[in-house]
Amino acid sequence: EKGGHEYFMLKEIEEQPEALANTLRGHFESGRIILDEQRISDQDLRDVDKVFVVACGSAYHSGLVAKYAIEHWTRLPVEVELASEFRYRDPVLDRDTLVVAVSQSGETADTLEAVRHAREQKARVLAVCNTNGAQIPRESDAVLYTHAGPEIGVASTKAFLAQIAANYLVGLALAQARGTKYPDEVAREFAELEAMPAAVQKVLSTVDQVRDLGRRIADSKAVLFLGRHVGFPVALEGALKLKELAYMHAEGFAAGELKHGPIALIEDGLPVVVVMPSPKGRAVLHSKLVSNISEIQARGARTIVIAEEGDETVRPFADELIEVPAVPTLLQPLVSTVPLQVLAAEIARARGYDVDKPRNLAKSVTVE
Ligand code: M6R
Repeated sequence: EKGGHEYFMLKEIEEQPEALANTLRGHFESGRIILDEQRISDQDLRDVDKVFVVACGSAYHSGLVAKYAIEHWTRLPVEVELASEFRYRDPVLDRDTLVVAVSQSGETADTLEAVRHAREQKARVLAVCNTNGAQIPRESDAVLYTHAGPEIGVASTKAFLAQIAANYLVGLALAQARGTKYPDEVAREFAELEAMPAAVQKVLSTVDQVRDLGRRIADSKAVLFLGRHVGFPVALEGALKLKELAYMHAEGFAAGELKHGPIALIEDGLPVVVVMPSPKGRAVLHSKLVSNISEIQARGARTIVIAEEGDETVRPFADELIEVPAVPTLLQPLVSTVPLQVLAAEIARARGYDVDKPRNLAKSVTVE
């Protein structure tokens, strides 16, 4: 059942190229992005003047990633909110607000209540969901299904990558409707997304290296994760995986916040995972992170650097270097998350824990 793997999660990590390809399939026809069950008219999509993404856990992180892309492509303000906060707030919504509710199970209680809260205020709700006919898509105006297949491991892996891809399709559909991207630009962005299954397949060649690293740092007390821009939500996701599977103290930080507090946590031997941006992307992002790594290394941290292959500038500061293929900046989370999933799973295994069924957690949280 586990396809020869010791635990489901590893099988599901390896299914990510397929999950991405299946999620993208059929969504670009005759030069246009198309969503599923689109009960929101093109006119309504054109009229959208604000986007909220509401979700919990990893699904929330997929929204944080998508914010960078959707704002860039559509020039619409995007707020990403934990469903459990959104539902008890008085968010500013109206019929021109698009609320994207992201949920693998489609049954998460807080996300469902956030959907109801949004619809009461006449906002349009689009569900991004991995489960056909679940409650959240049933109560939404439109649905975009992720086709990650059933996810057995409690820790989300392939569903998370598929959620990012689906959220990006929503962004492109909005850009297309609003005309903030020309049709050939939309086509190019889609083609770049379509190249991602192959890129993720390439990252999977680092699994053995990362598992070995996981075993070597399994007795650490804590692990910190740093990232900037789209690497920041990747850092949050890496920390969440480690908390839920390895029961270790793990925190993700925006690298720019280091000097505002977290750098005080750095002590000798503390593993710090740094998610590097591409050196070919925004040069300023890259050089800021290089100086962040040198600062934490100088304070004794054990630096674990996820960097684009061939990025020689980071080598002197990386105690451990994990290379991922070069992809456009906005798509980097699809490759850089993968080693963090493997790392968390292997640390958990080395500590003797059940990777697929971590303590105290359920696969879907249908009670608050
Ligand atoms: O089914 P959902 O996507 O709504 O679930 C949301 C979270 O409960 C889920 O992502 C959780 O955080 C995972 N265990 C993370 O690995």
